[in-house]
Amino acid sequence: MQRDVIIACDFKSAEDTFRFLDLFRDEARKPFLKIGMELFYAEGPAIVREIKRRGHRIFLDLKLHDIPNTVKKAMAVLSRLDVDMCNVHAAGTVEMMRAALEGLTRPDGTRPLLIAVTQLTSTSEERMRRELLIDAPIDRTIVHYARNTREAGLDGVVCSPLEAGMVHEACGAGFLTVTPGVRFADGDVADQVRVTTPARAREIGSDFIVVGRPITAAADPVAAYRRCVAEFAGE
Ligand code: C5P
Repeated sequence: MQRDVIIACDFKSAEDTFRFLDLFRDEARKPFLKIGMELFYAEGPAIVREIKRRGHRIFLDLKLHDIPNTVKKAMAVLSRLDVDMCNVHAAGTVEMMRAALEGLTRPDGTRPLLIAVTQLTSTSEERMRRELLIDAPIDRTIVHYARNTREAGLDGVVCSPLEAGMVHEACGAGFLTVTPGVRFADGDVADQVRVTTPARAREIGSDFIVVGRPITAAADPVAAYRRCVAEFAGE
């Protein structure tokens, strides 16, 4: 599996998205993009098809979490959109993750990569205990959810880059870690708390880093993207 940088396209409309993507028109390397709920709910499947048509790989970040049958059917629809990666919540259980995988697999046996969210980085250990009645430390919960994800046959998890090492230790080097919370050493942290640099994420073993504002809000987004790829993928 090739290490890569995924740009989080957290834009509110197709217009804003394509204004941004036009900057990359002459790039030989078409960036891998993450489309989240805001853009997908605003523009629907049409924006996925158009971005695919422009030659980008797509991580469709919709974090499905429902009964197994519903998730299986929804995944079958997403699979026909020809995205490259999509995700579910590991909290939906091993049975739900297996159903997701089944729904995602096309009649010819091919499918997008499927990864699971362990605990959202916005959930603190204190809230987990008080509101979700989970008494285990957050690190143990994350590794446990990652093991469930592997048991269900998925390809990997979304986690903090700081957790990528322990996930690989528990689930194997081939189990993917897709990690947001990345900032340049000289950059603005904004609302992220547990952050690290692209170079450090590489050292810890992230397979994909998801980078939003350090690229989308940069004065020169193409230069910021190239710097990120150089630091993370060593190109
Ligand atoms: O702008 P920034 O680099 O913080 O964007 C990170 C992206 O990764 C956003 O789309 C955010 O929603 C997403 N994300 C995250 N932390 C998670 C899961 C997803 O920051 N645990």
